[in-house]
Amino acid sequence: MQTNLQPKLHVAIIMDGNGRWAEARGLPRPAGHEAGADSVRAVVRAAVEHQVTALSLYAFSTYNWRRPPAEVAGLMGLLRHFLMIEVPWLRDFGVRISVLGRRDRLPLGLARAIGHAERSTRDGRRLHLRIAIDYSARDAILAAAADHLTAEALAERLATEDVDLMIRTGGDQRLSDFLLWESAYAEFYFTEVKWPDFGPDEFAAALADYRSRTRSFGGVRPSPAGLTSAGNSPSA
Ligand code: FPP
Repeated sequence: MQTNLQPKLHVAIIMDGNGRWAEARGLPRPAGHEAGADSVRAVVRAAVEHQVTALSLYAFSTYNWRRPPAEVAGLMGLLRHFLMIEVPWLRDFGVRISVLGRRDRLPLGLARAIGHAERSTRDGRRLHLRIAIDYSARDAILAAAADHLTAEALAERLATEDVDLMIRTGGDQRLSDFLLWESAYAEFYFTEVKWPDFGPDEFAAALADYRSRTRSFGGVRPSPAGLTSAGNSPSA
C-alpha cells in the first residue's frame, strides 16, 4: 500500500491510434476503441505497480464531437461500460477516479456512471486516475480564470496537478489541447506504437526513459532523473 511519503509522479497519456489500428486490420473504427479500452485496463494496473501516483488519460476531446455520430455513440457507451464494470477492482486497488471536462453534453447514463465511479472510489490513495471526457484544456483554463486570478487558485480550479511525463501514442507529436497549463514543465515521450498495442512493457519503457532524464525546471541542471515537478518552482 502506498504511504503518504510516496513521491508524486503524474503521467498523462494522449491515447492515439485506435482508428488506424482497426483500419489496418480491416475492422470498423469502434473495434479500435474497444481494443484501446483493454490497453487502458493494462496500463492502469502497470501504473499502480510502478508507483505512479496520478494518471491522466485523454479519452474524448471537445473536438471529437465532430466524428461520425455512430463512432461518438460507441465511445460514450464504451466509457460508460468501463466506468460501471471496472469500478470494483479499481476501488480494491486503491484507485481514485475523477473525470475532467464538461458534463452537460454527455448522455445521462454516462454522467450517472461518472458520478457513481467518483463517489465509490473517492477514498482511493494509491493512484489518482483522471479521465478527460468532453475536455479542452483551453476551456478548462478559461473557466478557472474567470474568477480566480492567482496561479495557485487557478491550478486548484483546474482540478489536476503538474504533469511529470506526457506520453502520446500513434506517431503524432502534439498536445491537442490536453493539460496545457499542467504540462509547462512536463517531459514528453512520443511513440509510433498505436494505443491498442501500448501495454505494460511500453509503459515501463516510457517510465525508464523518463527516469533517465535530468530535469532542471529552468534552473541549472541539478536534479537526478525522476525528480517530479511537485514542490519545484520553475525559474525560467
Ligand atoms: C484516439 O484515436 C482515441 C480516441 C479519440 C479515444 C480514446 C478512447 C479509448 C482508448 C477508449 C477507452 C477509454 C477509456 C478511458 C476506457 P483515434 O481514433 O483518433 O485514432 P486514429 O488517429 O488512428 O484515427
